[in-house]
Amino acid sequence: MLTGNDSGMTDPNDDAAMSELVDRARELIPGGAQTGLRAQAYETGDVAFDSASEATLTTVSGERYTDYHLGFGPIVLGHAHDGVDKAARAAIDDGVLYGAGTTTLEVEVAERLVNLVPSIEMVNFCNSGSEATYHAIRLARAATGNEKVLKFEGCYHGWHDYVDVSVYPPADRVGERYPESDGMLSAAVENTLVAPFNDPDALEDVFREHGDELAAVILEPIPHSVGCLLPEPEFLERLREVTESHDVPLVFDEVISGFRHSPRGVQYEFGVTPDLTCVAKALGNGYPVAAVGGRADLLAQAGGDNESGVVISGTYSGSLPGLAAARETIDTIVEEDVQGYLTNLGDRYRDGLTDLLEDHAIDGRVVGHRSIFSVQFGVDGEPRTYEDVLGLDEERFRAFAAGMRERGQFFTPNPYKRHHLSFAHDESHLESYLDAADAVLDEL
Ligand SMILES: Cc1ncc(COP(=O)(O)O)c(C=O)c1O
Repeated sequence: MLTGNDSGMTDPNDDAAMSELVDRARELIPGGAQTGLRAQAYETGDVAFDSASEATLTTVSGERYTDYHLGFGPIVLGHAHDGVDKAARAAIDDGVLYGAGTTTLEVEVAERLVNLVPSIEMVNFCNSGSEATYHAIRLARAATGNEKVLKFEGCYHGWHDYVDVSVYPPADRVGERYPESDGMLSAAVENTLVAPFNDPDALEDVFREHGDELAAVILEPIPHSVGCLLPEPEFLERLREVTESHDVPLVFDEVISGFRHSPRGVQYEFGVTPDLTCVAKALGNGYPVAAVGGRADLLAQAGGDNESGVVISGTYSGSLPGLAAARETIDTIVEEDVQGYLTNLGDRYRDGLTDLLEDHAIDGRVVGHRSIFSVQFGVDGEPRTYEDVLGLDEERFRAFAAGMRERGQFFTPNPYKRHHLSFAHDESHLESYLDAADAVLDEL
């Protein structure tokens, strides 16, 4: 495996070319990178990448890292995947966007989603997870005539005002509506109700008080935005029952879980079928493609004729390279049992890391599901709610991330985020990761 420089170690703080580029970026781009979360990578030293292949990321100065970040999750087959890129290139050769009428690719990808994902009877494509959750909520509001949306603490559904509330509330703001950004529309925040995840009684309280005013309930069925909160079966069952009995559309945000954990979504694994589903990220192995799908009567509201009143729009929606990438990604995931491979590999990372924490007598836990895992220091037990993650030791995680980066292992130093695996990760990566973790934990 190729990581690090010739000595096997990297020195991110001593890299003049990279720091110069990042300095230029900081003058031109707020924070020096396209999103605040991307800029957090600088906590372990300036970093600028200019190529990626399989499981490896390479910086502008040639240092190579094994990538556990994978672009926040989309890269499920590995970087620069031959089949996916070939499919996208073939689409580009035929023109990237027509902007009128139907394309073969949109029909072919829609057929795949309808055949695979239990809740999806019809589907609309867009370019990002945020667009998908936005469209889902608009469809639900139109169908119910209601405005309020219920979401859960610790769940992220994108950057827009409808949902960017109480994702990471500070401890003293838990239980409130906590806007994650300045500049949000207060009416949107007021119409976003918040409840703790995995708490069926709190859920029923919200329905007792606001059941008739709700347009939608939206959740990540596994809130990976805070590592991994696995849903209690009883919580999901009660959620499905109470939304059905009040005629409130249930929206599963499978932007992370869809196609990464399963081509059918975790809705199939958990046996709970929502009314609407949002998918993005792993759907296109890194290409910007996303979708909102679900009950035909809900989606049909966006039919674009005089009878149907919901506008779903977007110049780039259904762009052909993204759809070509999605078709190839879906077929590869299904044909090669990527889910089985990644589940097995993920278990081995989790087991290995758990053993290392024990060997080094370090307080902490390893959480995750299939190809996703997080190391959380200073906390124990299975996290079930957002509050269960609040006490984790952020400083220790950042030190861990810095030590791992020095040893050629890259992941975001944000302690609430997660590692991802791809089909390009294998035994050799596992071995190097655990060797590096052994050395770093020894120093912590
Ligand atoms: C669960 C979930 N939903 C929605 C989004 C928003 O997706 P995008 O960043 O593509 O707009 C994200 C992004 O991280 C996400 O993790």
